[in-house]
Amino acid sequence: MEYDWSSLDELRTTYLEGTAGQGDYWASDELLRGYDVTFARRIAWKWHHVFRDLAGVSWTPPAGAVYDWGCGTGVAAREFLTAYPGAGLTGVSLHDRSRRAVGFASAAVRREFPDMPVMAAEPEGPFTLLISHVVTELKEAGMAELLKLADRAAAVVWVEPGTSVASAQLVKAREALRESFYPIAPCLHRNRCGLLAEGHENDWCHFFATPPPEVYTDRDWVQFGRIMGIDLRSLPLSYLVLDRRAPVAPVPGAVRIIGKRRLYKGHALLDACDATGVHERRFTKRTDPLLFRAMNKGKTSTLQQWTLEGNEVTSLKEI
Ligand SMILES: C[S@@+](CC[C@H](N)C(=O)[O-])C[C@H]1O[C@@H](n2cnc3c(N)ncnc32)[C@H](O)[C@@H]1O
Repeated sequence: MEYDWSSLDELRTTYLEGTAGQGDYWASDELLRGYDVTFARRIAWKWHHVFRDLAGVSWTPPAGAVYDWGCGTGVAAREFLTAYPGAGLTGVSLHDRSRRAVGFASAAVRREFPDMPVMAAEPEGPFTLLISHVVTELKEAGMAELLKLADRAAAVVWVEPGTSVASAQLVKAREALRESFYPIAPCLHRNRCGLLAEGHENDWCHFFATPPPEVYTDRDWVQFGRIMGIDLRSLPLSYLVLDRRAPVAPVPGAVRIIGKRRLYKGHALLDACDATGVHERRFTKRTDPLLFRAMNKGKTSTLQQWTLEGNEVTSLKEI
């Protein structure tokens, strides 16, 4: 593919330097096109990770419209509508401070979902709010406005980079909204976030999506990784899903494993979150050698059901 690599590189620099919030940076359709097949694809893979987690807790979207706020090229709406073909039957709304981005996203949604009504305004009826990779561009007032909008939604699906800053913003949002909504994922409870307890100042809630194998073999992806200086294997994300409807009852003993698993020769240390808070637990290889090996390869689900003796996991099963 032939893209304007230098504009994409400049865009990445503004993201890394935290200056992207200063103004509309979508200077051309070409830049949007380049973003859509590179950065936005990587974001799509993070959404796929969230969809898998949502299937694990049997969540499906409520009836109503889909509203992609800060839509960029509309990747969140397009992936969501693909994952949930029954969603957005009353329409898809797209919002961005950039008119060019809304135009691009609208055309892309129309192309992929020709029967779907597409609007550029807040939906009138109930809606699922999609937010993707926006918080780092918002100042306090922008975040307050977004939380007000979230409080009008039937459900919120919010995906951000897996950085401590983005995760802290999601924890804040969760605290602001948890009285009106049920957290559905990654949280398995509605209590105050366990990361706000003393001793967790350096921890953050994040996960790792798996890119498809072609990123290692496809010439364009290899070139993209090299030019941008991006390690294509690494796709950390933070996310939050809220719903007005109560979740399907959680399996007893269910825990969400957050962050990096710390793997040693014969055991792993896992940070597990449930209604009692976030705790470090020890899982030894001899408890379940097959699962231990799968964990070593990063192939285990973040949702597990276990029994404990003290801090030691004595049985573990993927949900
Ligand atoms: C990193 S891009 C993410 C785009 C898209 N959601 C995605 O996941 O690919 C951030 C988007 O947020 C938009 N944005 C930033 N601040 C905004 C604001 N205050 N109101 C609306 N959109 C905003 C930008 O124009 C940009 O399209």
